[in-house]
Order: sequence, then C-alpha cells, then structure tokens
Amino acid sequence: MQEKILVLDFGGQYNQLIARRVRDNNVYAEILPYTTDIAAIAAGNYKGIILTGGPNSVFDPLSPHYSADLLKMGIPVLGICYGCQLMAWMTGGTVETARQSEYGGINMRVRKTNSTLFEGVPEESVVWMSHTDYISSPPEGFEVTASTDACPTAAMENSRLKLYAVQFHPEVTHSEYGGKVLKNFLYGICGCTGEWRMEDFIDKSVTQLREKIGSRKVILGLSGGVDSSVAAALISRAVGKQLTCIFVDHGLMRKGEADSVEETFTTGFDLNFVRVNCKDQFLHSLAGVTDPEEKRKIIGREFYRIFWDQIRGEGDSGFFAQGTIYPDCIESGKGSADTIKTHHNRVNIPDDVVFEGVIEPLSELFKDEVRKVGEMLGLPTELIWRQPFPGPGLGVRIIGEVTEEKINVLQDADWVLRDEMGKNGYEKQLSQFFCVLPDVRTVGVMGDHRTYEHLIAIRAVTTDDFMTAQWAKIPYDILARVSSRITNEVKQVNRVVYDITTKPPATVEWL
Ligand code: XMP
Repeated sequence: MQEKILVLDFGGQYNQLIARRVRDNNVYAEILPYTTDIAAIAAGNYKGIILTGGPNSVFDPLSPHYSADLLKMGIPVLGICYGCQLMAWMTGGTVETARQSEYGGINMRVRKTNSTLFEGVPEESVVWMSHTDYISSPPEGFEVTASTDACPTAAMENSRLKLYAVQFHPEVTHSEYGGKVLKNFLYGICGCTGEWRMEDFIDKSVTQLREKIGSRKVILGLSGGVDSSVAAALISRAVGKQLTCIFVDHGLMRKGEADSVEETFTTGFDLNFVRVNCKDQFLHSLAGVTDPEEKRKIIGREFYRIFWDQIRGEGDSGFFAQGTIYPDCIESGKGSADTIKTHHNRVNIPDDVVFEGVIEPLSELFKDEVRKVGEMLGLPTELIWRQPFPGPGLGVRIIGEVTEEKINVLQDADWVLRDEMGKNGYEKQLSQFFCVLPDVRTVGVMGDHRTYEHLIAIRAVTTDDFMTAQWAKIPYDILARVSSRITNEVKQVNRVVYDITTKPPATVEWL
C-alpha cells in the first residue's frame, strides 16, 4: 500500500502548495475538501493529516469545521494557520481576533527545543505569517512550542496524541526552516519512509496501463501541449502501437509548431500518429466572424466535430485517454462555486461514441511532476517547458476576422519574439509571452514611401497562477531588437507596441 498524507482543504490559497511540498519530500499527498466523510478518511490509510489554512474565523458558525473525532483516530495531525486555530478550537482552546494582523516574515522563537517538529530548527528564525485570529489560550494537554512577539502560540503540540499545529506557513519559501518542519512531521512524526519517486511512478503506471488495456486499442487527443504529450509518451511506453494519437491541426498554432509535434511523435515514439489538417475548414467557419466569444465557440465546436468524426472513423472501441492532471481533479475546500480554473483538460465524450473506459494516467500529478515524467520519457525540452497556449490558438490573438494573411503575419512576428526571448534566456523567466495582431493599420515611412501596414503588440507576463499577472520588465535593448527585427523581417508590419498592463484590469490574452 502506497504511503500517503491527506491534505484536508479548508479553502486557503496555499493548499496545493502544501501537497506539492509534501511530495517534494518523496511522500505522496492527496487533497480532499473538508466536507469529506470521516469514514472515507479512515478508509484512506493515511500516515498523517494536514489541516490547511483558510480565510475564515473558527468561531463563526458558518466557517468550515470538522468533527473532533478526526483528532482521535491515532493518525498524526498537523494544523497550519486556520488549521492550527481549528485544532485549538476543536480541543477546547481559545481563539480570538487580534486588533492587528500579523503579516509577512516574522521572527519566531522555538520554546520547546526538544520538539520533534522543530528538530534542526534554530531557536530563532523567520517564518511567514498571515493571520488576524490567534490562539490566546492553548487547549489543555497542549504545550506551546514556539511564539513571536505578536503571537503567543505560534506553534503548539500534544505529542502524546500526535497533534501538532503551527500558526505560520511552513509551505512557503519565506519560512526559513519551513521545509525542515514539514520534513520532521512526515518522517519524524508520521514515520514516512519516502517511497514516492517519479521513476517508480513510471514503472508502476506502465504495469497498471498494461493490465488495464490488455490487447485493446487506446485513442488520445494530442494538442501538442505538455499534458497530452506526456500522457501519449507514457501510454506509448506501456502499449506501443495500440495507441493512436489524433492531432487536429486547426492551422492556428504558432509557426512551425504543428510540424514539430508531428516530428516528435512520429520519429521518437512507438505509436500511431494521425494528423488531421483542417486549416481551410477553420478559416471557412471563421470567415466574417469578429466577435471574440463567437470565434472561441466556433473553434471549439469545429475542433471537437472534426476530432470525434475522426474517432468514429477509427472504430470507437477500446479506451479513450486524456492528459488530465491533478489540479484538474481537485475539488476545492472553497466549494465548486469558487473554483478558479476554467480551462482544463477533461473532455465530454458524445453519446454516440462508445468507449470501454477512460484512461487518465497523469491524474495524480502536479504540473512540475508531469514535466519531470516527460523529461524521463525523453520528450524534447521545448515541448516540456512550452508555455500555456490557448485552445483556440491564434484565433484569440487576432482581433477581428481571422484570415490566412493575418495568421501568417502574426506567426512570423511571434517567431521573431520567441527567437529573441530564447537567445536572451527569457524563455524560462517569463510565464507567457506572445504577439497579438490588433485589427489596426497605421501610417509609417520606408525610404521615400509612405506605408500603411499592420501594428503588432507584444504581451509578456510573469505570474504564479494566471489569476493575476504583471507585465514583464524586459530590458529596453532587447525590446528594441525585437521591434527592429519584426519591422525588418515581417514585411506587412510597420509598428510594434509593448503592452504594459497588469491583470487585472486587463487579461493576459487580448481576447
Ligand atoms: P486570460 O486571458 O484569461 O488568460 O488572462 C489566462 C491564461 O489562460 C489562457 N487562456 C486560454 N486557454 N482556452 C485555453 O485553453 C482559452 O480559451 C483561453 N483563453 C485564455 C491564457 O493563454 C493564459 O495562459
């Protein structure tokens, strides 16, 4: 049985990060919402439970709570931030609201130096705090193990009952010894041995895929993005040519990208690769359409129509595989109403296409783990580190009607930007960068001639989660080179502008 830790989600912003940090320690972590039944938790055979942070106050009856029986199961529990206050609340401590929040990097003193949780942590260190409520009086049987000037109970424990709690956030890098605290909990308190390794993941998945698939066929929709590509590589390792990848090329990818997807999968992997070239069909459907939402709808509808038609042609049997990853599957502790992710990988299969089952071999993995698996399976670095690319492709980067001429202009300009960012080492520093073709022509001058040509806008952002984003402060000399190369190398462009708007109020894409 795989050793695993439960991260019980009370709606905090760092909850996925907690699970990732646990996994960084080679221990598998699973996130479940606080609404999960206690019987399901008991059946999960967890080595430890982490109660996460959350935005509420424990004394508000409408706040997320959990039955105190959770703390009596004999499983070690670590409460973090709201989870810390909740543990105090559940065991008879007092939680109050302070007049002032404690926020940022704060000096903390360890008061119980022989606490297993703080083993190897100096008596004084900086921790990351973000709270207004605090534990004013710890529950009976608990010892205060650390404090700060503003927070008398920065950490507490009842080691006999294996209950531990920290007011600070050990999962963020600003907590100097946060990694050590988590490691102590996992290894020193929960007794984990650290068996979760990506190498084992590949071997285990290959065995499971072979068992499940047997001699049947598998069909996978390949977009050329990281997730579906890694899923394809993994399934190919398990069952080779029983896998058919369908790549619908809508003609709206970046320059050269469709060819490179084809090249990667036809030369490097043992599978059947079907490329469906349908640029003309897409152009035809998009003719005269200028409304952004209408364009999105048309591209999505056409894409799936073509995709499913192709699969029906293949004879719909066997399994349907998808590159769904763990964040696509997590039901948040905030409830589904607050789920922020809208562009995920799960596809609705039409009623008239029948499969024996669906295979999602990456559904346990975070994005960085997916990339690691991709690397180990031999996928090219450019593909593994590919920045997000919207499903509707350049269709949402061309304002107004999408025409073949505009696609070519945008692809050529965007190629120059990518080339310069790559050469100057910006590819990994930026979260996303691309060119946009606004439906604007402006006057310019070339030699003795007046020109009236396209305007290109450059968008480059840094962000952690794409919910907010900052425009990237690319040095002027690099921007100058990009601009001069685009206007020199792309004949139909005579002006380049740089988008200096954050999200919000703007979005990352222009449409
Ligand atoms: P926005 O423009 O909403 O973009 O700030 C946030 C992130 O989502 C990507 N994006 C999309 N991805 N289909 C997708 O699969 C779409 O329709 C779509 N629109 C935006 C965008 O590239 C950025 O990474």
